[in-house]
Amino acid sequence: MTNRTDLLRVDGLTLHYGPIAALHEVALAVKAGGELVALIGANGAGKSSFLRVISGLHRQSAGRITFNGRDITFAASHLRVAMGICQVPEGRQIFSPLTVLDNIRLGAYRRKNSELDTDLKKLWKMFPILEEKKHLLAGGLSGGQQQMLAMARALLGRPQLLLLDEPSMGLAPLLVAEIFGIIKNLRENGTSIILVEQNATQALRLADRAHLIETGRIVLSGSGQDLLHDKRVQAAYLGGE
Ligand SMILES: Nc1ncnc2c1ncn2[C@@H]1O[C@H](COP(=O)(O)OP(=O)(O)O)[C@@H](O)[C@H]1O
Ligand SMILES: [Mg+2]
Repeated sequence: MTNRTDLLRVDGLTLHYGPIAALHEVALAVKAGGELVALIGANGAGKSSFLRVISGLHRQSAGRITFNGRDITFAASHLRVAMGICQVPEGRQIFSPLTVLDNIRLGAYRRKNSELDTDLKKLWKMFPILEEKKHLLAGGLSGGQQQMLAMARALLGRPQLLLLDEPSMGLAPLLVAEIFGIIKNLRENGTSIILVEQNATQALRLADRAHLIETGRIVLSGSGQDLLHDKRVQAAYLGGE
């Protein structure tokens, strides 16, 4: 049954890498208009694999994906981007020898120039440091600035659903706070988000709903608060906080 307010719905999603199953019958939903769903779990649990199936970079071996009520289970990844599913990959994957501005423009190859100018103005407001450095090479940015750049590039695709893969990875605490502040803003402005994080505390604090994934299976689901207060999550994933 597709609930009308569900933006994304995933049922029975199973993924194999050769003979190895990396995802087992994963089911979850994300509501339209700014729901934040956190996916937490240890290294190797299948979080990135899940996001890559949603963006169409990996093909599931079973299951169904619907977006805005449309079945996109077998849709090509560029069509999913055009529909409004944009992923910020793990490790940022920016193009170091290109300028900041050229990196951002890569996220806007479908945009008219007039639209691009409007969107860029919004982006500079959100990421003033990127405007300051727009003509510098992306490879010279700090880790936090590279994360902002990767997010800015995805936002130029005007996503309805933003897939964030470990945005806080490797960042100093102050920058982690800044990145989470930006995520909160995006959500408040109506962008729905799947946030994958190994560092679970902040993700759960922000999340409307959350799922714990262990070796490719969702083993616990609830509100962000539910998972924050779960003894098992606290012991294994919250680092004693
Ligand atoms: N392209 C791939 N080919 C084969 N195995 C992979 C590939 N990507 C990930 N895996 C394996 O799938 C499992 C889940 O990995 P991943 O989705 O990257 O987990 P996470 O993002 O939670 O750390 C791991 O055992 C990993 O080694
Ligand atoms: Mg990963």
